[in-house]
Amino acid sequence: MTANTNDLIALEASLLARIAAASDDAALEALRVEALGKQGSVSVLMKTLGSMSPEERKAFGPKLNALKDQITEAIVVKKAAFAEAALDAQLKAEAVDVTLPPVKPRIGTIHPVSRVMEELAQIFGEMGFAVEEGPEIETDFNNFTALNFPPKHPAREMHDTFFMNATDEHGARKVLRTHTSPVQVRTMLKQKPPIRMICMGRTYRCDSDATHTPMFHQIEGLVIDEATSMADLKSVLVAAIKAFFEVDEVRLRFRPHHFPFTEPSAEVDVGCDRSGGQIRIGAGDDWLEILGSGMVHPNVLKNCGIDPEKYQGYAFGMGIDRLAMLKYGMPDLRDFFAADTRWLKHYGFSPYLLPGLAQGVG
Ligand code: DAH
Repeated sequence: MTANTNDLIALEASLLARIAAASDDAALEALRVEALGKQGSVSVLMKTLGSMSPEERKAFGPKLNALKDQITEAIVVKKAAFAEAALDAQLKAEAVDVTLPPVKPRIGTIHPVSRVMEELAQIFGEMGFAVEEGPEIETDFNNFTALNFPPKHPAREMHDTFFMNATDEHGARKVLRTHTSPVQVRTMLKQKPPIRMICMGRTYRCDSDATHTPMFHQIEGLVIDEATSMADLKSVLVAAIKAFFEVDEVRLRFRPHHFPFTEPSAEVDVGCDRSGGQIRIGAGDDWLEILGSGMVHPNVLKNCGIDPEKYQGYAFGMGIDRLAMLKYGMPDLRDFFAADTRWLKHYGFSPYLLPGLAQGVG
């Protein structure tokens, strides 16, 4: 039996419609076998070519070949569409929304001291202060002499200094820095004014009770320029303390004091409220001492190669751990360094929430 052209057109229409309607790869494969397999409807027709007359073959052959090509191509195209849809579905199923918060952080928390340092870097950074660093093992010169502590002066003992066995090139014993002020010296020795820097880090003194630990943290600030004043110092401190404690108003009281490296020197108290057994910064009419400050002593400028006739500056130093205790209500400083994971879980900060001034540093 030989098929006529109409049969071919009907077969083509039916196959193409069924290919288009195939719902998956398996259905498509079944159609391929049904049409193009050994016993397939198209293959069977191809076999009839051999028994045709040359004229018939000439008329029918190309149409049959075209049908075969068309069916083959339709199957390939449909197969590719299935593959693409499967890939789409897989990508959708495996998609990760990186903006979602993690269900449970598997890493630890940020220590409150690190957090407060981040906050301070943000706050002072916004006011144009660069962050400087210095080593914890310091020379006697940087920790004391350059800062105008006279040799053998009791002020050196005042700091309960840890002395190292190692000596510097002048034979003086090195020290575990007793404050971050030596980083002022390092900065002035390596950089020409104007200078506007802070430094934060570990400091050491032989002392231990609920508010003192042998290792603690300080922040130091230094500004050197041709015209600076206690008024500038005050405005910077007011802005910083407001931002840090996230209060709209803050009162500062400057009390005359003595530091070898500043003249005049002042201890600064911040207005607070102590009612209810808690200290609240910004409200109330009590005072709390929070930092030391002053105008950089001309001798310090000279010791660091800066002309005191041309330049002047102000400096301040603050305990970072104290700031953390005040802001986050921790009663005992020794807990900070006890490495108790329960304490860290309670007071620690999520590593995914870094402080920024836009969303508030607290
Ligand atoms: N270094 C002082 C201390 O540890 C704090 C201090 C006071 C730093 C006055 C300063 C300053 O820069 O000007 O007690």
